[in-house]
Amino acid sequence: MNSIKVLDKEFVPYLSEKEIQEKITVLAMQLNKDYAGKRPIFLSILNGSFLFTADLFKQITIEAEVCFIKLASYKGMSSSGNVITAIGLEANVSGRDIIILEDIIDTGKTLHHYLPQLLSSGPASVKIAVLLNKKEALQFPVQVDYTCFDIPNKFVVGYGLDYDGLGRNSKDIYQLK
Ligand code: IMP
Ligand code: MG
Repeated sequence: MNSIKVLDKEFVPYLSEKEIQEKITVLAMQLNKDYAGKRPIFLSILNGSFLFTADLFKQITIEAEVCFIKLASYKGMSSSGNVITAIGLEANVSGRDIIILEDIIDTGKTLHHYLPQLLSSGPASVKIAVLLNKKEALQFPVQVDYTCFDIPNKFVVGYGLDYDGLGRNSKDIYQLK
């Protein structure tokens, strides 16, 4: 793997496609076990989670639904103050088991702000599954239930994650040089 340039920044290889896919397989197996017979709804947070969601969902073998919402709080390389719901929830989550899928937890602000809204719709349960967890960056309390990778507090791109809209279309994940 070579380093890449996205806009003005240089990024070095960090997690390979193989490593990512292996962790997603392990997560899918765990979820297939934990949610057998429950018909959960996978609630994917756009945009960043679209590849993670697709690869994970292909390996879900139990009865399950998937739906999407779009939350945004990021501009460039840092969280902008507010969390905006750009596309809201259509599914009726009342009484359902929800698994939120996020590409990355950074400050925790996005989910910390969204969770009360989701809980007010009366789901049976809500768990959070993330591809990447920047534990050291957490500022807003959010309990993550399933994590593929704990990563240091450094900006990353690729596999759905962007820098100012670019860099999402890569099978591997790169870290800011
Ligand atoms: P939080 O609200 O601070 O936890 O940030 C969550 C959102 O910020 C994620 O869903 C990502 O879209 C974005 N984000 C956080 N860290 C990174 C990063 O290192 N690269 C790209 N996007 C990031
Ligand atoms: Mg995101």
